Amino acid sequence: MNALTSGILSRLHASRGYLSGEDLCREFGISRSAVWKHIGQLRDAGCRIAAVTGSGYRLEALSGTPAAAEVSLFLETRRAGRELHYHKQTQSTNLLAKKLAVERAPEGAVVVADTQSAGRGRLGRTWVSPPGSNLYFSLILRPRIAVSRIPQIPLLAAAAICRAIHDACPDVNTGIKWPNDILAGDRKLCGVLCEMQSDTDTAHFVIAGIGINVNQDSFPTELRDKASSLLLETGSPVCRPELLAGVLNRFEELYLQWLQEDDLGFVLSDIEKHSVLHGQQVVIDRFSHRQEGVVTGIAPGGELLLLTGEGKELTIASGEASLGKTFYH
Ligand code: BTN
Repeated sequence: MNALTSGILSRLHASRGYLSGEDLCREFGISRSAVWKHIGQLRDAGCRIAAVTGSGYRLEALSGTPAAAEVSLFLETRRAGRELHYHKQTQSTNLLAKKLAVERAPEGAVVVADTQSAGRGRLGRTWVSPPGSNLYFSLILRPRIAVSRIPQIPLLAAAAICRAIHDACPDVNTGIKWPNDILAGDRKLCGVLCEMQSDTDTAHFVIAGIGINVNQDSFPTELRDKASSLLLETGSPVCRPELLAGVLNRFEELYLQWLQEDDLGFVLSDIEKHSVLHGQQVVIDRFSHRQEGVVTGIAPGGELLLLTGEGKELTIASGEASLGKTFYH
């Protein structure tokens, strides 16, 4: 969509009632037939626009496509999402974002896809990415900080996502399952996959890949007990461009502060409030190594704190947590 068409969309979105064709002609310095052409393009893109003789045009509904024209209507960021590459289909937004980062795309650039043919999850898993319903996007970051702090980014993103989901769907209680899952009850709503390119002490870039189940109305049998979506949780569809902008708004706010801090301390109470593992008996698998204990918290460095049966306190930097029985509060 060209800049003029998105400008008209933005103007219609900002105006509550009807906007006359004459006003649009004057504001954008174009003819009536040009206004009509742009309205036609917006309709072709899926926006619902009423046209009433004598009153003008009124935006009744956005298309809901998470591309730049609609995402930017809700963005409050300085950089995150200001460059946005939307694809109807790609293999994986993380892969594409990595390519753009290597080609020097700026910090804050985002790649979004309506569907991914090879969506990637953590630990080599697949992220199933059906079209027309969910959010799949990757944010390019260039933090000038010690590489040792990079593993804090998934938790920072999780805190931002919980805030954005709360803004969009206040009745959904989100939980964070360390290190990177967002749940509704015990079903997964969202996953974060961070990948970085670095040398020993500097990160060249980090790709924060986020998948959120937004408007998916059913899951295959094998996932039905494990996955949910905002639509299934609330019974109502959620506007994808608005949610995507909400995540970017919330993330940038936290990220800019995090860059000034030494660790996650400033947002830890928020993360711990959402942490579903707190007080739970868990098993942590990391490669072929397995550790067991009760979760006592999350350290400011983002590590999981475990108390073993022998009373030993462990600090777990990474791994996959599975739940056992609860005996700690
Ligand atoms: C996980 O929970 O295993 C992480 C899932 C991350 C999925 C997202 S979807 C957008 C981005 N592109 C990918 O290929 N993966 C991430």
